[in-house]
Amino acid sequence: MVGKYYAKIAGTGMSVPKKIMTNFDFEKIVNTSDEWIRTRTGMSERHIASENEAASDLAYNAALKAIESANIKAREIDMIIVGTISGDHPFPSTACILQKRLGLKNFPAFDLSAGCPGWIYASNVAKQYIENGVYKNILVIGVEILTKITNYQDRNTCILFGDGAGATIFSRAERKDISRVIDSEIFADGTHYELLIQEAGGSRMPASKESVKKNLHTLYMEGNKIFKFAIKSMYSACDIVLKRNNLDVKSIDWLITHQANMRIIEALGKRMKIDTDKVIVNIEKYANTSSATIPIALDEAVREGKIRRGDLVLMSSFGAGLTSGSLLIRY
Ligand code: ACO
Repeated sequence: MVGKYYAKIAGTGMSVPKKIMTNFDFEKIVNTSDEWIRTRTGMSERHIASENEAASDLAYNAALKAIESANIKAREIDMIIVGTISGDHPFPSTACILQKRLGLKNFPAFDLSAGCPGWIYASNVAKQYIENGVYKNILVIGVEILTKITNYQDRNTCILFGDGAGATIFSRAERKDISRVIDSEIFADGTHYELLIQEAGGSRMPASKESVKKNLHTLYMEGNKIFKFAIKSMYSACDIVLKRNNLDVKSIDWLITHQANMRIIEALGKRMKIDTDKVIVNIEKYANTSSATIPIALDEAVREGKIRRGDLVLMSSFGAGLTSGSLLIRY
């Protein structure tokens, strides 16, 4: 805690597009197989946005559910932070578009670009604003429509991503509340920023016929190089908050990691020595929804009655930047 108050997660919500693409659908477009995808990644299907569906559409649906579950009115929101790397437009922010759709104005709303840990980074910022007493209710979202910047000729990446939004309301905890955000750590190592990149479309390489022809507006990733960073960085982000709070891993009720690859989730669980039945996994249904994976998994686990008020939940992610981070809460 950095101020006089504690923050808590008061409500959650999620939204995914209706359309589903299975591993078998990929067999028809690239040289791959259901067997390869399932055994190498743990993924079976993913939700794909339609042509006219954008990030703010999914974010809006998820936000309404989070507002309802937090039992607040939209007008009580003091700030909106959207973690995303695939917003509606390069600018303005998806947070401002969402603010308008919610019928709100005159408070800060901004996007935060931190790759897959976008929601963890945004939660870390929201935590500070609640703890220092400046705001009472902050809408924190992770939303991604990565399938619109995916190269469907590249079997190394196209099978990995799905679309979705996860929304959370961070609120000031009352004295009587058992729920609170305990700690968070965020981290970046830009040394290898080029391992996961959308090269064109920014000021380094503005859009041109050539950039479009070469597919440089789509996501490029050297997955096997990121694999090791993933396990190491999530382990370290978790270890730091556990040690700082004198907690043993045995006291953790639930671990939610980034849903990028089942082998990464298993390797991290093994390294942390946490029971496998405490690790929340939904990668088979949604694949990698980047900054939305953790808030989607959190919302599902809460609605399924797995995560209950008072449970100790540790969350961790890694991604483009390269970035990583963790969030420890008593839900
Ligand atoms: N189907 C069949 N074969 C494939 C496929 C596919 N879809 N994709 C790759 N292969 C092949 C490769 O071409 C290679 O063949 P070769 O040996 O003949 O050259 C072989 O499989 C092994 O390739 P690797 O890249 O070494 O496979 P790996 O076991 O590392 O799995 C994967 C690849 C799934 C990408 C893995 O490295 C991974 O999950 N890495 C982490 C990536 C990640 O999570 N990034 C993070 C964040 S995303 C974000 O922030 C937006």
